[in-house]
Amino acid sequence: MKPVAEACLRNQQPIADALAPWLQAAGQWLELGSGTGQHGVYIAERHPSVRWQLSDVADTLEGMRAWQQEAGLANLPEPIVLDAADAVPPAPVYDGVFTANTLHFVGWEIAQAIITYASGSLKSGGTFAVYGPFNDNGSYTSDGNISLDKWLKSRDASSGIKDEQAIVDRAANCGLMLMSATDMPANNRFIVFQKN
Ligand SMILES: C[S@@+](CC[C@H](N)C(=O)[O-])C[C@H]1O[C@@H](n2cnc3c(N)ncnc32)[C@H](O)[C@@H]1O
Repeated sequence: MKPVAEACLRNQQPIADALAPWLQAAGQWLELGSGTGQHGVYIAERHPSVRWQLSDVADTLEGMRAWQQEAGLANLPEPIVLDAADAVPPAPVYDGVFTANTLHFVGWEIAQAIITYASGSLKSGGTFAVYGPFNDNGSYTSDGNISLDKWLKSRDASSGIKDEQAIVDRAANCGLMLMSATDMPANNRFIVFQKN
């Protein structure tokens, strides 16, 4: 049976709408930490000329594959196992890299590794798009994010909501220039970078 992430059902349309202007025809996109794969299915269905590669750590593969196979889309190939913490980026082959709700879910080391991997796998001029909750100069932006952070840390003390400014700095160190950062529903943010 397919795993269903309820949050994806709520936020998939706003995310797809925010991403749409950055998707170019025939673009090759990689998603890091796809989870169930629902975002990828939703986006690939609406952009048949974009090839969307789902990926995540090994224990999510079965669920992602269930979504990918049921979708049966020519532009949504088999998901791949990709642990950003110990994977070496391929040659810069992707036009875009997308990741949703991953940077707060992991510790700072892995968050940095995700950004490094994204940069390493992007072609020059490529797009890195990040969705999720972020703090603003050390402050939570909502009560909901305070509760989320508490829950995150109760399961993994090293995880938690990151400062947006720290993400932007880390990205800059990896050659990723900030293009835009916009508010999204439920106190999330959509941040877009371009590879130099
Ligand atoms: C909160 S879930 C988000 C899933 C999906 N992107 C979404 O928005 O529904 C966080 C995801 O990060 C993935 N993740 C954790 N560590 C990772 C790593 N080292 N490399 C790649 N993905 C990782 C988890 O497996 C999980 O699927």
